[in-house]
Amino acid sequence: MVKICCIGAGYVGGPTMAVIALKCPSIEVAVVDISAPRIAAWNSDQLPIYEPGIDEIVKQCRGKNLFFSTAVEKHVSEADIIFVSVNTPTKTQGLGAGKAADLTYWESAARMIADVSKSNKIVVEKSTVPVKTAEAIEKILTHNSKGIKYQILSNPEFLAEGTAIEDLFSPDRVLIGGRETPDGQKATQALKEVYAHWVPEDRIIITNLWSAELSKLAANAFLAQRISSVNAMSALCEATGANISEVAHAVGKDTRIGPKFLNASVGFGGSCFQKDILNLVYICECNGLTEVANYWKQVIKVNDYQKNRFVNRVVSSMFNTVSGKKIAILGFAFKKDTGDTRETPAIDVCKGLLGDKAQLSIYDLQVTEDQIRRELSMKKFDWDHPIHLQLMSPAAVKEVSVVWDAYEATNGAHGICILTEWDEFKTLDYKKIFDNMQKPAFLFDGRNVVDVEKLREIGFIVYSIGKPLDAWLKDMPAMA
Ligand code: NAI
Repeated sequence: MVKICCIGAGYVGGPTMAVIALKCPSIEVAVVDISAPRIAAWNSDQLPIYEPGIDEIVKQCRGKNLFFSTAVEKHVSEADIIFVSVNTPTKTQGLGAGKAADLTYWESAARMIADVSKSNKIVVEKSTVPVKTAEAIEKILTHNSKGIKYQILSNPEFLAEGTAIEDLFSPDRVLIGGRETPDGQKATQALKEVYAHWVPEDRIIITNLWSAELSKLAANAFLAQRISSVNAMSALCEATGANISEVAHAVGKDTRIGPKFLNASVGFGGSCFQKDILNLVYICECNGLTEVANYWKQVIKVNDYQKNRFVNRVVSSMFNTVSGKKIAILGFAFKKDTGDTRETPAIDVCKGLLGDKAQLSIYDLQVTEDQIRRELSMKKFDWDHPIHLQLMSPAAVKEVSVVWDAYEATNGAHGICILTEWDEFKTLDYKKIFDNMQKPAFLFDGRNVVDVEKLREIGFIVYSIGKPLDAWLKDMPAMA
């Protein structure tokens, strides 16, 4: 029986390994983590992440060929293939702070693999890492090898949170990069055979190591760039009376462009896009490619501009101050169908409103109060992020209440901000909500989920990203 061990039981390690276990009953999969609470949650009925479809798979495989454990060294030493899916956040200190990927977790995993291995191993980079990381990992492993042979493969993960299981079941592609030596090719083949249990051969792409590593950064940069492009257009739509939904539809009909990922919004979030672009920028700068670095930097600048623009629109519409006003925040997760709040635009919007002394009442279907409070009081790296420079005093977080119902959040509110596209927000009883709000009642839709005309008929003053402004908003232009 082939044994797989995955180091890191997070948003990637958990679902990816659960699907491998489901699709490959002949393979034993152990997912290990240094976080005991995380492993305990994977072994309970309350999994540590919310992801549609994952509960059933874990229930089906756990205890059979899928195991979650803190016995990191034991499972690593027994495995034939070791996936490393630890976090690779942006460095906050030292050389490259605010841009470069922090590979501390990766390096310590590699050193541990070298310490405990007693047989040859295939080590798979599952985390998103800077191009050329495999070379560094190889050095760590081979300098401590005690005669053991290691093959390093790059197998970046392209799943999207919220649709992770769907994405893993039928991926657009699986990418495997390896050394072009006979041993490298053998390792690549071994990993390919794992995926071939359910992924059609023509969707498994084999490349060299550096192409695989760089493709993941490139893919995320391209995706984020599309969002920043449509968001930049949304600002021009508001200034001119064009409608971003119509523009995006017309543009997306061009088969060279395509319709996906063209929804204007308050900005992109999630743990990956910003981190991976910053990392890309850093790598470009290290290679002396200043123009290329500046090009990608702009994607993040436009994203920050979009979040700032939204906050400014809210404040300027409400008579240039939200001080003491109750603002309901509907949605805190960075997208629907996930409880993940890493880099969610809601953080910056809430901080911006708190900076103007608003009182926030926050409701999200999946995010806990603790998580929201933690996000709002955490400091971030401040590279080129003007909005992050307005760090909150802890006291300001006291102006936040977290509730478990949209009607409670909006009761008595002066304004509503929709910051996540949860389906529930499309079907709320907005007449009832309007009746219980202060007047004039404002609604700022950061995800374009509500029917603007219907809400205006009810009496709301509605702002929807990139849509023609109503008379009220035209009279109070946002200071961009
Ligand atoms: P995560 O933070 O949810 O999980 C990482 C886990 O690794 C944590 O539970 C942590 O305790 C564990 N860990 C860290 N060091 C360890 C060590 N030495 N030994 C054992 N466990 C250790 O991170 P997530 O979101 O799963 O991301 C992992 C990697 O995958 C990152 O590089 C990310 O960029 C990449 N990625 C993430 C995607 C996402 O949607 N979240 C999608 C595609 C790639």
